[in-house]
Amino acid sequence: MKITVVGTGYVGLVTGTCFAETGNDVTCVDIDADKINKLSKGEITIYEPGLEKIFLRNLKENRLRFTTSLSDGIKDAAIIFLALPTPPGEDGSADLKYILGVADDLGKMLTDYKVIIDKSTVPVGTAEKVQAAIAKNYKGEFDVVSNPEFLREGVAVDDFMKPDRVVIGTNSERARKVMGDLYAPFVRQGNPVIFMDERSAELTKYAANSFLATKISFMNEVARLCEKLGADVDMVRRGIGSDDRIGRRFLFPGIGYGGSCFPKDVQALVKSSSEVNYDFEILNAVMKVNEDQKLHLIPGIKKYFNNNLKGKKFAIWGLAFKPNTDDIREAPALYMIDELTKEGAAVSAFDPEAMKNVRNLMGDKIEFAENQYDALKDADALIIATEWNEFRTPDFSKITNSLKNKIIFDGRNLFDLAAMKELGFHYESVGRATVN
Ligand SMILES: NC(=O)c1ccc[n+]([C@@H]2O[C@H](COP(=O)([O-])OP(=O)(O)OC[C@H]3O[C@@H](n4cnc5c(N)ncnc54)[C@H](O)[C@@H]3O)[C@@H](O)[C@H]2O)c1
Repeated sequence: MKITVVGTGYVGLVTGTCFAETGNDVTCVDIDADKINKLSKGEITIYEPGLEKIFLRNLKENRLRFTTSLSDGIKDAAIIFLALPTPPGEDGSADLKYILGVADDLGKMLTDYKVIIDKSTVPVGTAEKVQAAIAKNYKGEFDVVSNPEFLREGVAVDDFMKPDRVVIGTNSERARKVMGDLYAPFVRQGNPVIFMDERSAELTKYAANSFLATKISFMNEVARLCEKLGADVDMVRRGIGSDDRIGRRFLFPGIGYGGSCFPKDVQALVKSSSEVNYDFEILNAVMKVNEDQKLHLIPGIKKYFNNNLKGKKFAIWGLAFKPNTDDIREAPALYMIDELTKEGAAVSAFDPEAMKNVRNLMGDKIEFAENQYDALKDADALIIATEWNEFRTPDFSKITNSLKNKIIFDGRNLFDLAAMKELGFHYESVGRATVN
C-alpha cells in the first residue's frame, strides 16, 4: 500500500518505518527541513532502541522517503496518517491547530478517494472537525478514521510491531477494509483489532493514559503513607500486584510521571470533561499528586543539609523522563534541577541519551559529565532520577571514592535497603525506611 505519514516525530517516524518494514511504500512529511534533510541522508533524529536498523534498511530498499512537501508527499498515497503534535493550549485543552491546518491543506489537494487517519492523541469530536475542514474545499469521497497510537517511547518499535491491540474508529465499511488489511501483518498472533465509532476510539486513548497515570499517582500516595506509617511500599506493591485484578505492572512508586503524553493527556481529558459540565474528580487528584511527587525527594534533601543547599553540589543520574529514551518533556529531573539551583546548589548530571536535549534547554546552568561516575566528583550527594539499567548495579566503591559523603537520594527505589545499610550509605528512597 502507498502510505503518507504527516509529522515525522516520535510517532510519525516509528509509524512510517514500521509500515515500510511490512512492505508498504511510505513517504514521511514534515515541515522541519533540517529533520527531513537528516532523515533523507540516513541520520536518525530520535533515539529509540531497534529503530535505526530498520530505518536504514527500508531507506536503502527505497520503501521509505522523506519530504517537506505535503502535496508531493500525498500524490500517490491511498492512506494518509496525521502524526502531528497536539500540545496543551493555555487552558489545558489539546491544541488542534496543527491537525486542522493540515486537514485544511489536504482539502485543497485531494483529487481522489483517500483514507485520512488521526494517529495523534485528539479530543473526542476531532475526526468530525477534520472531516469538516477537508470537506470545505474537497467535494469528492474520503474517509476520516481515528486510530490512536499506544506505543511507549523506549520500546516503541516492539509496541508498534506487536501491539496489544489496535483501535480503529470508523463507521465506513470501505475504510474498515483498508485499515484491517493494513494492520493484518501486525496482529498475526491474534491480538485484537477493535473496531468502534470515531468518538469511542478518541476517548479510548485518553482513558488508557489517564488510567495508567491514576495507577502511578495511587501508588505514589500509598508510598507517602508507607513513609508515615513505617510500612515498606515494595512489600505492599508485591502484596497487591499478585492479585490478577490489580496486576504487577505500573505499580512502582517514584518521583512522578512525565513525558509528552501522560501530563498533557490527563489535563486534556479533565478539560474535555469540564466542557461538557463534568468534573472528573479522580483525575484532578491524579494531577495534583503528580505535581507534588516530582519534588518528593527535596524536603529530605533540605532536611539532611539543615535547610541550606547554598554551595552544595548534587550529582544527578538520569535526566530523561524514563529510561531508553532521550525525551525530556516534563521530566521530573528537570523540576528537581530547578529547585536545587534556585536554592543555590550546583548540579552535575549524567544521562546516557538525554544530555544533548537538556544542554539545548539549560545551557551551562548545570554541568554534564562524561559518565555516571564522573558526575559524582566533589558532589555532596547522589540523586537518582531515572531508572536506566546501568544505574541498577553500580560500582559502589567508585561511588564512595568520588562522592564527598556517602549519601544517596533515590527517586526510583533501585537499591536494596539492607545492602545500603551494609555499605554504610545514608539512603533515602520513596515509600521505604530511611537508611542511616
Ligand atoms: N510520543 C509518544 O510516545 C506518543 C505515543 C502515543 C501518541 N502520541 C501522540 O502522537 C502525536 C505526535 O506526538 P510525537 O511525540 O510524535 O510529537 P513530535 O513533536 O515528536 O512530532 C511531531 C512532528 O510533527 C511535525 N509537524 C508540525 N507541524 C507540521 C505540519 N504542518 N506538517 C508536517 N509536519 C508537521 C513537527 O515538526 C514534528 O516533527 C501527539 O498527539 C501525541 O500525543 C505520542
